[in-house]
Amino acid sequence: MKVLIVGSGGREHAIAASVAKSERADRIYCAPGNAGIGQIAECVPIGAMEFERIRDFALENGVDLVIVGMDDPLVGGLVDVLEQAGIRAFGPRKNAAVLEGSKAFSKDLMKKYGIPTAAYEVFDQAEDALEYLHTGAKFPIVLKADGLALGKGVLICNTLEEAEDGVCAIMTERRFGTAGNRLVIEEFMTGREVSVLTFTDGKTVRVMSSAQDHKRALDGDRGPNTGGMGTFSPSPFYTPEVDRFCREHIYQATVDAMAAEGRPFQGVIFFGLMLTPDGPKVLEYNARFGDPEAQVVLPRMKNDMIEVCEACIDGTLDRIDLQFEDNAAVCVVLASEGYPVKYEKGFPIEGLERFDGMEGYACFHAGTKLSEDGRTFLTNGGRVLGVTAKGATLQEARANAYRATEWIHFQNKSMRHDIGKAIDEA
Ligand code: AMP
Ligand code: GLY
Repeated sequence: MKVLIVGSGGREHAIAASVAKSERADRIYCAPGNAGIGQIAECVPIGAMEFERIRDFALENGVDLVIVGMDDPLVGGLVDVLEQAGIRAFGPRKNAAVLEGSKAFSKDLMKKYGIPTAAYEVFDQAEDALEYLHTGAKFPIVLKADGLALGKGVLICNTLEEAEDGVCAIMTERRFGTAGNRLVIEEFMTGREVSVLTFTDGKTVRVMSSAQDHKRALDGDRGPNTGGMGTFSPSPFYTPEVDRFCREHIYQATVDAMAAEGRPFQGVIFFGLMLTPDGPKVLEYNARFGDPEAQVVLPRMKNDMIEVCEACIDGTLDRIDLQFEDNAAVCVVLASEGYPVKYEKGFPIEGLERFDGMEGYACFHAGTKLSEDGRTFLTNGGRVLGVTAKGATLQEARANAYRATEWIHFQNKSMRHDIGKAIDEA
């Protein structure tokens, strides 16, 4: 089979590595990919939002399966464009990807179908939001831009003043662009956060091993929010009891709700959960694998990735027995100093060859590119690499991952030193 993956980050590298393990994969393409993906796939210089070019490339090259990794093209309707041309594509159609694309939509869905989540109100006008803050609000309170905002459209406000500034930033100044046309104001929840990725074919849902992300830039959960600085899997806080509750009241309930709305969801639903004192509640939905959750979950998956993707497309997921290795994995992101605010790039990366042939280790590329002469890997983004290691236990995986971070050198390399620290409290 010829498989085309759409995206360019560490997640897409992890997807490509998973596809490469399948005996059915003869040829793997990635649009646009990055330097690391280029070692296992053929990168084609087409952007993830160039739908017609992606479609034409797939037709001209006889691509049998397209896997869309990123949120923007999913929400924009890439899968619909491909399907209309008769190309098999893994990922939700536009009318289902709205689960991630609009927080107001997802909150209303959860309310309508009784899926546990934080109490909320939706506003179209800044004045109404401000009025609400002055009358009905308890602090801290959470403001969320309705649309996609690179994971940055969420503000947690401790005081009325902060919340007023937040409403202005999102709705008046449009700091997150049109994502701020509408605003969700939400109750603040406390508890442990867990990410659970699931496959679904629109009816059946299959749950992957749990994970936890570290979104803040600096040790001790300080600093600005980022795309994610590291992950571990499984989460020791995601107990069998929590899992049982979530399968019934959250995962299957969501899949059924989308089907009932005439928006059957086929692809990956990422459930961002808060394990609150009142039980698990949904923080957010994503319509794709997490980044960097995929970098710890997929290396532990035993199934053939192509087979699972096809089952989601064909509506035969009930025949798949999803299995994960009985071990753990930790991913530490190596970033450029200053990320996510201001950083330099273009520095040579050394030590990548240390991962060659190392069973249980992987170095997933996020922001890298090859030098002009094609000989040197260069830093090319805020998040540069994701160093993943497995271990029999989470502690062992963490020790292995941090040891492997030392194999890599580049100027302005930075990372968090406490990825998986929560494991010790479990
Ligand atoms: P989101 O993009 O919706 O996942 O939000 C980003 C981060 O903000 C989450 O990972 C949480 O840490 C935090 N957050 C979002 N909503 C809430 C909430 N209702 N209560 C507490 N924290 C929240
Ligand atoms: N790691 C969080 C996300 O992928 O949205």
